[in-house]
Amino acid sequence: MSTSIVLGTQWGDEGKGKVIDLLAGDATWTVRFQGGANAGHTVKTAKEEFALHLLPSGAVRPGVRCGLGWGMVIDPDQLILEIEGLEERGIDIRSRLIISPRAAFVLPHHVARDNLEESRRPNAALGTTGRGIGPAYEDRTARTTLLLSALLDKNGEERLKAAHDQGIRKLAQAGERGLEWAVTLKEWRRWAEIIGPLLGDCAKEVNEAILAGENVLLEGAQGTHLDIYGGTYPFVTSSSTLAGSACTGIGIGPLRIDSVVGVAKAYTTRVGNGPFPTELEGEDGEWLRERGREFGTTTGRPRRCGWLDLPLLRSSVLWNGLSKIALTKLDVLTGRDEIPVATGYELDGEPLDHLPHLPNDLDRVEPVYEIWPGWSRSLDGITSFEKLPEEARRYVQGVADQLKTPIRLISIGPERSATIRCEVLPQKPQS
Ligand code: GDP
Ligand code: IMO
Ligand code: MG
Repeated sequence: MSTSIVLGTQWGDEGKGKVIDLLAGDATWTVRFQGGANAGHTVKTAKEEFALHLLPSGAVRPGVRCGLGWGMVIDPDQLILEIEGLEERGIDIRSRLIISPRAAFVLPHHVARDNLEESRRPNAALGTTGRGIGPAYEDRTARTTLLLSALLDKNGEERLKAAHDQGIRKLAQAGERGLEWAVTLKEWRRWAEIIGPLLGDCAKEVNEAILAGENVLLEGAQGTHLDIYGGTYPFVTSSSTLAGSACTGIGIGPLRIDSVVGVAKAYTTRVGNGPFPTELEGEDGEWLRERGREFGTTTGRPRRCGWLDLPLLRSSVLWNGLSKIALTKLDVLTGRDEIPVATGYELDGEPLDHLPHLPNDLDRVEPVYEIWPGWSRSLDGITSFEKLPEEARRYVQGVADQLKTPIRLISIGPERSATIRCEVLPQKPQS
């Protein structure tokens, strides 16, 4: 019985949805702690596929309790869409969902501001998901935002109006005039009717479950290098995606956490702009994109693809204190004689094994590649580490050794069954 944080170690889309759904088979709770509907987490069961943006990935498993922590920003229309979408597919969610009333709203004016600001940065667009995330966190930090608790407030409608007037003022300041981003009272009442009853003391309930010895999963969105602090600023999201954020985003003390699982794709992808040292722009990038079906779950954009970047992951191990790694999409690499892996960087002729500490220097690093042997035999149907082709075993072992972190799960397809539970421990270098 334990409390585990499960988070992304790269730039998002590592396969967190699949891993969390899988681990939720033995859990009583899954709880999101940051971000909003910029996330797109795919869960594939034997018969169906689900794309979750706000609900935790345990939502697909009947009986698993789901929480949305106060570190999140929540678009009410999107939330209702997801709740009703699951119900239409025969999955009851309301009876097991609890939402912190201290989470902040994403309102239509946030979405408008997000898109307006992006359009004003023609040469320096961040490539946001357009879900209003930046402006929603901006208002939260400015201490002017509307919290979901307003849905229970008898003056809620007036407070909504005040929040809207302020949003429209900000749009006008940015030069956008004459637009009405109003929410009608009818819409507000619908939100209150559907979401109001789901608000509750998420922090207390999750802590009680932890103290009762239940298995609790805390689900990260985005990835380590999109973190507002440690990420590739300014090409980041507006929340903290690191392990520490699971504590502050739900209201849990750090001593309650038993393990931190880092989900790492066997290669690297990124959507949106920003530095990406191992990016492949030619045929090899296209090969990874096609084989890995690397198109965004939230926006449908093609993802930028590149080889595995170990300095990037070493920083992820450090910043999150990873206890183990779930290595995903190993199947995508099948069919190559050789697989380049960046084991280090060079900056101004000096070797580096972690990210450079100055954010802009990531644009200037040169990856240093080792060529690891590839394999051609399909990984379909393999359920144990020993049955993998020898070169695939060496690839996994190489990652564990380089990151000095055990690999406890290998994913070889989107389905639950395409998973190998294992214990690949890092080996000490021979002296
Ligand atoms: P998340 O945001 O980290 O949850 O990841 P996404 O769901 O956005 O993107 C991961 C994509 O890869 C989804 O389409 C998954 O169904 C798929 N996927 C997950 N694990 C594997 C795997 O091991 N192999 C393959 N081929 N696809 C996978
Ligand atoms: P999941 O949880 C991949 C990226 C955007 C953009 C930057 C800022 O599915 O891994 P934002 O809309 O957050 O202001 O955009 O962050 N981004 C993601 N990339 N996966 C995600 O989520 C992402 N959420 C945001 O593409 O570069
Ligand atoms: Mg995703």
